[in-house]
Amino acid sequence: MFISTAPQNRATPPTQDLFDAIEGLKKEMNAVVLAHYYQEPDIQDVADYIGDSLGLSQQAAQTQADVIVFAGVHFMAETAKILNPDKLVLLPDLNAGCSLADTCPPDQFAAFKAQYPDHLVVSYINCSAEIKAMSDIICTSSNAVKIIQQIPPEQPIIFAPDRNLGRYVAAQTGRDLVLWQGSCMVHETFSERRLVQLMMEYPHAEVVAHPECEEPVLRHAHFIGSTTALLNYVQRRELDQFIVVTEPGIIHQMEKQVPHKLFIPAPGLNNCACNECPHMRLNTLEKLYLAMQNRTPEITMPEAIRVAALKPIQRMLAMSV
Ligand code: 13P
Ligand code: SF4
Repeated sequence: MFISTAPQNRATPPTQDLFDAIEGLKKEMNAVVLAHYYQEPDIQDVADYIGDSLGLSQQAAQTQADVIVFAGVHFMAETAKILNPDKLVLLPDLNAGCSLADTCPPDQFAAFKAQYPDHLVVSYINCSAEIKAMSDIICTSSNAVKIIQQIPPEQPIIFAPDRNLGRYVAAQTGRDLVLWQGSCMVHETFSERRLVQLMMEYPHAEVVAHPECEEPVLRHAHFIGSTTALLNYVQRRELDQFIVVTEPGIIHQMEKQVPHKLFIPAPGLNNCACNECPHMRLNTLEKLYLAMQNRTPEITMPEAIRVAALKPIQRMLAMSV
């Protein structure tokens, strides 16, 4: 990718191939670029590792790099920082938040938790460091069922913040979970009606969906899983058409892995582009380059929060092997 000539200063990328410039900075800084599947294709193509939330935290826990450039949203980069207090963790756009994490303000969650003093708190990784610090175990969409299954049946559990994932996990495990009523605005944008219309248009396609979707949508899914699980499923399944009910960024990897197959993104309501996560899409290749060049924006947090949030993340990592 070439960018046009412009006066050179620290805020302007040089007129050269941006991919090469990022590769050069990676070596110079001993940096690793970790990207979520919901990032724009250019970012996925420049990343050293692309994955779902669990894979990304496992990579962050193992990396030998001095600098982690996190192409994802704030809670993901924050998790990398919690695991790596001595490393520089960069997020290309510090405003890349998460509508789901925002549905769980720490003060309100503390009051909610106080109503259930004998409950264990299992929180989906899509939450702030403050919520993680109030949790006993973190989970992601790929290990939530496995983690709940490892908790003794007599132990009551609060599951936060995603009510849709919580409801799905409760159904899969037969556990009665106390749910915090949060949700993701991107995954709740898919309409069952539009999905059924699409299924009629593509009668040979299977529906693959992320568990953050609402129950009426999930009811139509042939397969439900995290982004990595969806990617693996469409690769191994001997079928060549899939309706994809999650953020369409994942389709870039699906098309790369199995180019002969057709992937149809499920539309948002009214055919808007609201099935794209507006937070994830705040990151661009240019911002990623500038973040590396300027070594900012950097993720920081109070040490007490970091230490408290580390324990439930470490538990998750140990329970996921
Ligand atoms: P996974 O990365 O676990 O698939 O979750 C998707 C998501 O919504 C991340 O915000
Ligand atoms: Fe958050 Fe939803 Fe975006 Fe994932 S897709 S980062 S849960 S707003």
